[in-house]
Amino acid sequence: MEKRKVLILGTGGTIAGRAQVAGDNVGYKAGEVPVEELLAPLNAVAPWMRRWHWQAQQVAQLDSKDMDAATWGVLAQAAQAGLDDPDVTAVVITHGTDTLEETAFFLSLVLTGNKPVVLTCAMRPASALVPDGPQNLLDALAVATDPTASGVCVVAAGNVHSALSVSKVHPYKVDAFSSGDAGPLACVEEGRVRWFKKNISNDGLSTDGIDLDAAPYAALKWLKTKGDSPRVEVVTSHAGVTGAMVDALLQPLAGVPPLMGLVVAGTGNGTLHAALLAALQRACSQGVVVWRSTRCPFGQVVPGPELVWPPAVPLSPVKARIALALSLTR
Ligand code: SIN
Repeated sequence: MEKRKVLILGTGGTIAGRAQVAGDNVGYKAGEVPVEELLAPLNAVAPWMRRWHWQAQQVAQLDSKDMDAATWGVLAQAAQAGLDDPDVTAVVITHGTDTLEETAFFLSLVLTGNKPVVLTCAMRPASALVPDGPQNLLDALAVATDPTASGVCVVAAGNVHSALSVSKVHPYKVDAFSSGDAGPLACVEEGRVRWFKKNISNDGLSTDGIDLDAAPYAALKWLKTKGDSPRVEVVTSHAGVTGAMVDALLQPLAGVPPLMGLVVAGTGNGTLHAALLAALQRACSQGVVVWRSTRCPFGQVVPGPELVWPPAVPLSPVKARIALALSLTR
């Protein structure tokens, strides 16, 4: 019988990082080891892997702090090609931790089909004395081949998180991710996935009256033809903020596309300093679309009698930035 296939796309990150000294978990270079090399040792430790055909493809090799819309476009097309292939059961993506939640959320908005797309990562480089990448990758493969898995999710430190809820909450610990109030979707124990709940898709996720369900086609077409997404920046409300940053963002800059959207990370329940509010209203009057989120790491803005822009519930500022950019492609 023909073996079923899993497509594994490598994009770099610490999981593919290498340090000069094995004990160094900070001074390494991310995105060095090819994805085939990350995969190769796992066959020997997990006999169940022999029942599957693992097809590795290097899509990028970068530190995910440098992730951009062009790379997302290439990655989304490679992942969609896998999802459209009837021989492929699932897609796994190796990625840096720093913008993992953004890539996962982006993919959850643009990919179509319900097969699993599992992103994984590591906090320690591949050269570490005790790297976490091999276990994370093995767990991701277990999730990808689990018949119950669906949609885009993130596997790290034995937990499975949804693309919508996950965020990186610690700069150093191996268990660096949290799904906040929502909690993880599942955990992985010795290659078995124990589900706590179903992976919710973004169906029905509607922000500022924009129905994101219809965004995928327009967004991917835009990325393919323009190589970039509409420019949306994030600003934060804080004590002493002046609004000068917003005015500066409105100025034309050679080689930089004009500003089309702004996400503001408000204080508490999405409230804004009066000086920043005035600057954002100036931006709005120049045609810039403003979305409001909260800088609180947990919870979400609770809608109330809104005096200004409605909150981009339930999105964090960085995820709201992606949703707004994609909605502006229409
Ligand atoms: C990166 O995000 O590529 C570097 C950091 C990491 O993967 O932990």
